[in-house]
Amino acid sequence: MTGNSEPQLPFTAVPFDACLGADVEGIDITAMDDTAFQFLAEALDTYHVIRLRGQKVSDPDLISFASKFGDLDPPGPSPYGRPIHPTHPELNVITNLKDEGGIPLGNLANAEAVWHADITCRAKPPKASALYAIEVPPEGGDTYFADMFAAYDALDDAIKQRIEGLKAIHDEAHNSVGMLRHGFEEVTDVRDTPGARHPLVRKHPKTGAKSLFLGRRPYSYIVGLDLDESEDLLDELWAHATQPQFTCGVQWRPGDLVMWDNLAVLHRRDSFDDSYRRVMHRAQIKGTEAIA
Ligand code: SIN
Repeated sequence: MTGNSEPQLPFTAVPFDACLGADVEGIDITAMDDTAFQFLAEALDTYHVIRLRGQKVSDPDLISFASKFGDLDPPGPSPYGRPIHPTHPELNVITNLKDEGGIPLGNLANAEAVWHADITCRAKPPKASALYAIEVPPEGGDTYFADMFAAYDALDDAIKQRIEGLKAIHDEAHNSVGMLRHGFEEVTDVRDTPGARHPLVRKHPKTGAKSLFLGRRPYSYIVGLDLDESEDLLDELWAHATQPQFTCGVQWRPGDLVMWDNLAVLHRRDSFDDSYRRVMHRAQIKGTEAIA
């Protein structure tokens, strides 16, 4: 052994067979020191999606883990106007379970969630999410992620020039399964969609690297364009950005904890048979970046 050799870290990141995503091995998120946290934070920056398998995480553990990445961003009320988590309002519950009266106990039920990033309808969207799988169906309910840096890089120069400086509206009225959010009215003209207007191209505040910043397709509109032109350009960008070569998929096991960089990726979820149970708890981390 030479005196110069780096100490071997007891954890590793094993990249998915895709352009983004990695399994981080050797870290128990309930007993994490600063070195492990730094490793995770760097892995999230590098791979945009990280998965830690075999975790045993209580709600307070999940809150304490996610809080290391920044202030938490509690969810709003469910579409039924109820608090989402009965005892830990910081957490979102993603489930198809219902109470005895048939009222959903969480968000998204068993429906397909279309490609989206979370709450980009805000001026400063959440920067990351940590989703912990408690119960998962034997089939269906997989989650997919798409790398918006890779998607931007692969655009041809003409379209890069065309979208530079353009902004799109990010719908606030609906959730990712298309349900109207509590307190909103149906959108009849996408030019009036409520929600933030963000550049289609995000420049990373530290590295300057560019990525697509699309939010969600339904009810989007590119400000200043004719409606038809906006629809065509959005369709083209979304078809490009969600091609398989920019994506990875997660087939959940109970005890999986997946974190994603909400400003770097889109995600979507498959539907699943409603006779199965799927229960996930999610902590979302507040964003501090106004997209530019
Ligand atoms: C979400 O869209 O945040 C939920 C993802 C999932 O249920 O896997």
